[in-house]
Amino acid sequence: GRTAAVIPAAGRGVRLGPGAPKALRALGGTPMLIHAVRAMAASRAVSLVVVVAPQDGAPEVKNLLDAHSLPERTDYLVVPGGDTRQQSVHAGLEALPGTIGTVLVHDAARPLVPVDTVDAVIAAVRDGAPAVVPALSLADTVKEVEPGEKGLPEPVVATPERARLRAVQTPQGFDRDTLLRAHRTVAVSGDGATDDAGMVERLGTPVVVVPGHEEAFKVTRPIDLVLAEAVLARRRA
Ligand code: C5P
Repeated sequence: GRTAAVIPAAGRGVRLGPGAPKALRALGGTPMLIHAVRAMAASRAVSLVVVVAPQDGAPEVKNLLDAHSLPERTDYLVVPGGDTRQQSVHAGLEALPGTIGTVLVHDAARPLVPVDTVDAVIAAVRDGAPAVVPALSLADTVKEVEPGEKGLPEPVVATPERARLRAVQTPQGFDRDTLLRAHRTVAVSGDGATDDAGMVERLGTPVVVVPGHEEAFKVTRPIDLVLAEAVLARRRA
């Protein structure tokens, strides 16, 4: 089957500070969402990109796509999203045509992922893995804590062995039926999930990790914008 990329872009992005919705923030003069769309369309395997817009923002996002040059061999679709990332991804999945066999889910907030990472994820799915996640080893040691009252010291519960931990990125790649089943199941149970592979894990389906990329970092805090601008400037040099 063909490959599609779903880009949830319906978040408010409050952690980035006041201003426009995160996906519409400019990086190097171009909205973050456009970078993310181009990053997916850069893969020759991707024949459709579905952008999930804020609930009342689909026409605006459609105009935004029309106003920027995008590869012509790829189709583009805009659908309205939901209150949570999970609902937004689900809306994107339900909009896929039946000819799609592989689906990527990619955060608009990871505008700079290199095409080699996108292609590596797609290749692993086509080689038979139902769920594939790009990930990096951690520089920081991670503690599990018992979250307490804000501002008070929190008791440490455990220190997982760092060498066994991975920080996961997007695009995450899936066999389309597997991911759709995960979303339909978990959506009914009302369970929260911070990534799509986690929902597939709950089905008992195996998930594998492939090497991620430093430039696939998520633009979340103000300092991430500084880093993203620097990466873009280096690419343009
Ligand atoms: O908030 P977070 O950084 O985890 O958001 C990850 C991605 O999910 C972003 O691209 C954001 O626009 C998207 N999102 C969404 N719908 C929501 C919340 C977040 O599409 N309701």
